[in-house]
Amino acid sequence: MKKEILFIDDEIEMLESYKKLFVANDNYRIKFVENSIKAKSLIEENNYDLIITDLKMEEVDGMEILRTSKQKNKEQPVIIISGYATVEASVEAMKEGAFDFLEKPFSSKKLFKCIERGLNCKTNYNFPNKSKEIIGDNFEGILYKSEAISNIIELIKKIAPSNMNVLITGESGTGKELVARAIHRHSNYNENNFIPVNCGALPENLFESELFGHEKGAFTGAVKTKHGLLEFANNGTFFLDEVAELTQSLQVKLLRMIEDKKIRRVGGEKEIQVDVRIISATNKNLEKAVTENLFREDLFYRLSTIQIIVPPLRERKVDILILANNIMDNFCKKDDAPSRRFSPEAEEILLEYPWPGNVRELQNVLGRTYYLCSKELIESKDLPLPLLKNNRGIYDDYLELKYKVAKNKVIEVFEEKYLLYNLKNNDGNITKTAKKCGMDRKTIHRILKLFNIIYKNNE
Ligand SMILES: Nc1ncnc2c1ncn2[C@@H]1O[C@H](COP(=O)(O)OP(=O)(O)OP(=O)(O)O)[C@@H](O)[C@H]1O
Ligand SMILES: [Mg+2]
Repeated sequence: MKKEILFIDDEIEMLESYKKLFVANDNYRIKFVENSIKAKSLIEENNYDLIITDLKMEEVDGMEILRTSKQKNKEQPVIIISGYATVEASVEAMKEGAFDFLEKPFSSKKLFKCIERGLNCKTNYNFPNKSKEIIGDNFEGILYKSEAISNIIELIKKIAPSNMNVLITGESGTGKELVARAIHRHSNYNENNFIPVNCGALPENLFESELFGHEKGAFTGAVKTKHGLLEFANNGTFFLDEVAELTQSLQVKLLRMIEDKKIRRVGGEKEIQVDVRIISATNKNLEKAVTENLFREDLFYRLSTIQIIVPPLRERKVDILILANNIMDNFCKKDDAPSRRFSPEAEEILLEYPWPGNVRELQNVLGRTYYLCSKELIESKDLPLPLLKNNRGIYDDYLELKYKVAKNKVIEVFEEKYLLYNLKNNDGNITKTAKKCGMDRKTIHRILKLFNIIYKNNE
């Protein structure tokens, strides 16, 4: 069945231009209403799949339409169309639960896209009271909604109480350390230390004495006996981060330690008993390193009794908005600032970006966004450039076309963008726009018609 849309604008000319847009589009059933009082009572009596309303109206304004709709049915998405210089009011509308707002001038393409999103939205995110849909689940600080992470958490719960060694693999920034800490907290070793070491951080000789400790006089500079990190980790968890970086000789020593449960300090004779649970992590392919003889096979098997693979963020997109909202909330809470939310378009960009640096990159990007933009509603244009660049280049769609056709398409895209920008900056006034741009009004009208641009004709 066709979806039903209620379209409200008390200016008859505006309503007429909207109607024209839908003449050739019979995907929806649309009821156009000019009388806003009538629109309000229609909303009180019926349910619609989507309501689109102008903000500034004489009798019942867009905000009242929005509130009436929310009272009747919280899930009913409402798109607000606002005129020039009413961005603040639009933000208010978003706070009260509007699904999106469109600022004039906009093209029919944008309107249709917005309608599609509105019709497809399952939850109308009510700001600032966020639904569980947006908060997600939390296990030891691991936020998630995806099945992939949910399976990992089930696995953590199952294997944590055993003393089996665990190898965690996954791209950089996916949350491997978070998983390691969760395992520790649910293990029998949780009353003792969780000692993380980065295997790539130190030169071999220093690293050896860090791990195993050294006796006084073992080498120049060893002025007193030092306990190794493995001793501190006794009866606790030893987290070997970047384990692929272990040198061959340390691999041998570590293997011996795992087999004998004993270590010897550098320059020492005495064997010291250690019982540690080893969790290792790497973003490299350790199996491949084994086949290339870069990593000992016996050690690999010792370390990887259980393997956990943390998938990259782009393979579990349902986690992106949950993480993004949580990260933003944390920035706001830290500053005691009001909570913020992302516009549907900004959400789309966050979902589309491939996040090569995973959750850590998301944190960095949103940190920059938080400090550079102080608005409560974060729009797509407020996001850092690399994300926007990820959206396909405007030319990409035309590269396969004939040169002439492609060139005309590029010009069309430019014309639309140029005119939207300049109309907006000239209050939608065509005479002013023409003067500013050095164009004649006829050309402007041609472009407006070509792209079905909705503007307020106040020349
Ligand atoms: N599911 C998640 N929920 C909440 N925070 C997360 C999640 N995954 C990762 N993070 C956060 O992202 C950051 C990176 O995570 P972490 O250090 O665990 O990744 P990593 O896989 O160890 O990265 P690297 O390979 O670069 O060491 C941390 O601040 C972590 O708290
Ligand atoms: Mg890490």
